Amino acid sequence: MFGYAVLVCLAAVLFWLDPILKAVAPSLQEAPVLRKTPRPAINEALLALEDPVADEDLVCPDDAYTVHIFNKAPLVLYVENFLSLTERRHLVEISTPIYEAATITHDGGGSVERNATIRDSEVAVVPRTDIVRCIEARARRLQGWRDDLWIERLRVQRYHSPSGHYSYHYDWSRSGAATGGWGRVSSLMVFVDDGEVDKSGSENVPLKGGGTAFPRLPRRSSDARWCKFIRCSDGNGGNGGNESGADPDDLQASASASNSSTGVVFQPVVGNAVFWENFRPDGTGRAYEETWHAGLRVLQGVKVGLNIWSWGRVD
Ligand SMILES: *[C@@H]1O[C@H](CO)[C@@H](O)[C@H](O)[C@H]1NC(C)=O
Ligand SMILES: *[C@@H]1O[C@H](CO)[C@@H](O)[C@H](O)[C@H]1NC(C)=O
Ligand SMILES: *[C@@H]1O[C@H](CO)[C@@H](O)[C@H](O)[C@H]1NC(C)=O
Repeated sequence: MFGYAVLVCLAAVLFWLDPILKAVAPSLQEAPVLRKTPRPAINEALLALEDPVADEDLVCPDDAYTVHIFNKAPLVLYVENFLSLTERRHLVEISTPIYEAATITHDGGGSVERNATIRDSEVAVVPRTDIVRCIEARARRLQGWRDDLWIERLRVQRYHSPSGHYSYHYDWSRSGAATGGWGRVSSLMVFVDDGEVDKSGSENVPLKGGGTAFPRLPRRSSDARWCKFIRCSDGNGGNGGNESGADPDDLQASASASNSSTGVVFQPVVGNAVFWENFRPDGTGRAYEETWHAGLRVLQGVKVGLNIWSWGRVD
C-alpha cells in the first residue's frame, strides 16, 4: 500500500515536472554549446599590448568618470567624463595629420573596402603616446582586467556634414561559434569633439546630428534625467535642429524610439562614452542583436569619436 502511494506521487511529480522544465528552460535545452578552440595568434600590429617596461613609468590621471547602467543584457553602460579636455585635445591633435578614408569589412578583417553609402568618415589609428596608453589602461580597468581580453589599437573617427555617418551594423562580424570562441567582445564608443577643438567643420558651426542610434536596445528608464544624454521624444534631442532630415537611419531610429521601451539615440555629448558587450555569456558564442547601431548623419559641423574595441574570448 505504501509502495503504491509512492509510485502515484512519483508519477504525479514526473507528469507535472516535465512540462514545467520545458516551459522554464527551452533555450537551455536547445542552445548549441560552443566548441572552444585555443587562442589564435595575437596580431600585435592591431592590439595595444601592455608593456611592463613602458607602463612602469606611466603616470596617469585618476579616473574621473561616473557610470550609469543603461541595460543589463546586453550590458550597456553610459560613462560620463570618460575623457578630460586635455585628452580630447591631444586625440584631435595627433589624429589630424594621419586621417585616412574609413573602410568596411564583411568578413571580420579579411577584406576591406570603401563604400561611402555605408560609411563616410575618416579614421586615424593613433600612435601610442603616454596619454593614449593611459586611455587604454582606463578601458582595461573599466572591464575589470578581464582574462583573455586585449584592447585593440585606438581609432579616432571624424565625420563631416553633410554626409558623415555609419549605417546600421554590428561591431562583431562572426558569431563566437564560427570563430571557436574568439572575437570583438566589447565596444566603447567615446564622443571626443563637436568642433570646439577640431575647427575643420565648415565655418566653425556647432555640431548638429551625429547621435548613435540603437533601435533594438531595450530602454529601462523613462526618467527625464537621461535626456541630458539621449534623445527624448519631446523635442529634437538636445543639440538642436531637425535631426531627422533626410537620414534614413535616423527615420528608422525615430520610428523605434516612438515605442518608449525600445530604441535609443545617444547624443554626442563630448567626453562621455557608451560601453557595451557584444556576446552573450551563456556558452553559446551567440552575439547580441540588440547591439545593432548606426552613427547618424552629421547635419552640421564636425564630429570626432573614439572607438576602443576589445578582442578576446567571447564568454
Ligand atoms: C555600397 O553599399 C550600398 C548599400 O549596401 C550598395 O547599394 C552599393 O552597391 C555599394 N557600392 C559599392 C561600390 O559596392
Ligand atoms: C524635419 O525634416 C523632415 C524631412 O525634411 C520633415 O519631413 C519634417 O517635417 C521636419 N520636422 C520638423 C519638426 O521640422
Ligand atoms: C515595443 O517594444 C516591445 C519590447 O521590446 C516589443 O515587444 C514590441 O513589439 C514593440 N512594439 C512596437 C510597435 O515596435
